Amino acid sequence: MNRQEFLEHSARLAVAGIVAPFISSAGILHQPDKKIKVAVIGCGSVSGMYLPHLSKSPHVELVSVCDIRVERAQQAADKYHVPNAYPHIDKLLAGAPFDLLVNLTDMQEHGRLNRQAILSRKHIWSEKPMANTYAEGKALLDLATKNNVRIWGAPAVVNSPQFAYMATAIRQGKIGKVAAAHAHYGHLGPTWSAFFYEQGGGSLPDLGVYNLATLTGLLGPAKSVMGMTSIVTPERNVDNKGKIKVVAEDNAMVLMDHGNGVLSHVQCGFNYFDPYGHEGQGQDKPTISIWGTRGSLQLIGYDWAPFGVDEATLEQEHGVRVATDTGSYVWEHGASVIAESLAMNNEPRINAEHALHVLEIIEAVRQSQATGKRIMLKSTFPYPIV
Ligand SMILES: NC(=O)c1ccc[n+]([C@@H]2O[C@H](COP(=O)([O-])OP(=O)(O)OC[C@H]3O[C@@H](n4cnc5c(N)ncnc54)[C@H](O)[C@@H]3O)[C@@H](O)[C@H]2O)c1
Repeated sequence: MNRQEFLEHSARLAVAGIVAPFISSAGILHQPDKKIKVAVIGCGSVSGMYLPHLSKSPHVELVSVCDIRVERAQQAADKYHVPNAYPHIDKLLAGAPFDLLVNLTDMQEHGRLNRQAILSRKHIWSEKPMANTYAEGKALLDLATKNNVRIWGAPAVVNSPQFAYMATAIRQGKIGKVAAAHAHYGHLGPTWSAFFYEQGGGSLPDLGVYNLATLTGLLGPAKSVMGMTSIVTPERNVDNKGKIKVVAEDNAMVLMDHGNGVLSHVQCGFNYFDPYGHEGQGQDKPTISIWGTRGSLQLIGYDWAPFGVDEATLEQEHGVRVATDTGSYVWEHGASVIAESLAMNNEPRINAEHALHVLEIIEAVRQSQATGKRIMLKSTFPYPIV
């Protein structure tokens, strides 16, 4: 019996109630009713979206929270009935045992903290980006494999029913030969933390990352990239540091070549007047457009919170709105989905190599801006996704 057959056999026995535990491909010992023990590091803004979702998941046991601002960890622990609150990752890793670390810290901290947790044999769900550079991210993925744990990174855009609809329509040739695509995302920038504007921050890893994941997910890995970036607002006032100098780009234009003649464009920035605000409330316009020789597809709403697809084809020139059911998808469900996958021993649609490919694109855009050149990419990911 090979490993796969063993896993399938164990799963069948478990379902039949013949044996309780089985070992997942991720190396965890599972019981059918066992929950994944989850620790959250970083109890700032986005944790206010993640923690409610995680706390409602039947596959999650919230074990610990951690923040260097320990009062934030304590508040989160009190609010979501989490038994342990820690002020430092060392204490978290040495404390109550857990399976999955959910990393919601400053972008610049992700690589270092993810590495430390992998070395302690924890699975990782990381907010974007998984690491500060593609090379660092690839090394993390290799280290995770070596340590028999898994790592995944936000965003979770490929999980939306609208993404699935568009991916299927494209794959089935519904819009003919695909030629071009455009995506955009911007607002006036976060006001609470400086890291968004410091070295290692920027609108590309914070905002463009969604569009880059969506377009590469729909059209395939990019072969090469050209980009321009700039800083529109050189100084900002932020809650945690007052007046700061903006170092990372806050305005970006990206051109991608996906091969087979398919070209796409992403624009993002922290200087976009946006009546929908940071929460995107009420955004009902297309943000992703794909054009082919027989039709076009427009994703309605932001790609992290879509609620329809406008589809026009030769047969139906004026178009029709489809895929209006959002199902259980919400952008903040990434860590819960990963916990469920670990508990149920399923492979999630979100893929670490895809997140790394997007990270390589972001680096390439900056390199293109610095050199004025088109940058060839080396990474790829399993495609098609749906
Ligand atoms: N805020 C949002 O709506 C949002 C949405 C999607 C994704 N994100 C992503 O989530 C991440 C966090 O963003 P945020 O807006 O919550 O930032 P934030 O500043 O509100 O929160 C970050 C928290 O991490 C803590 N922290 C920093 N370094 C740490 C360390 N070494 N150990 C423990 N704790 C540490 C900080 O003290 C802070 O409480 C970023 O990657 C961001 O791009 C944010």
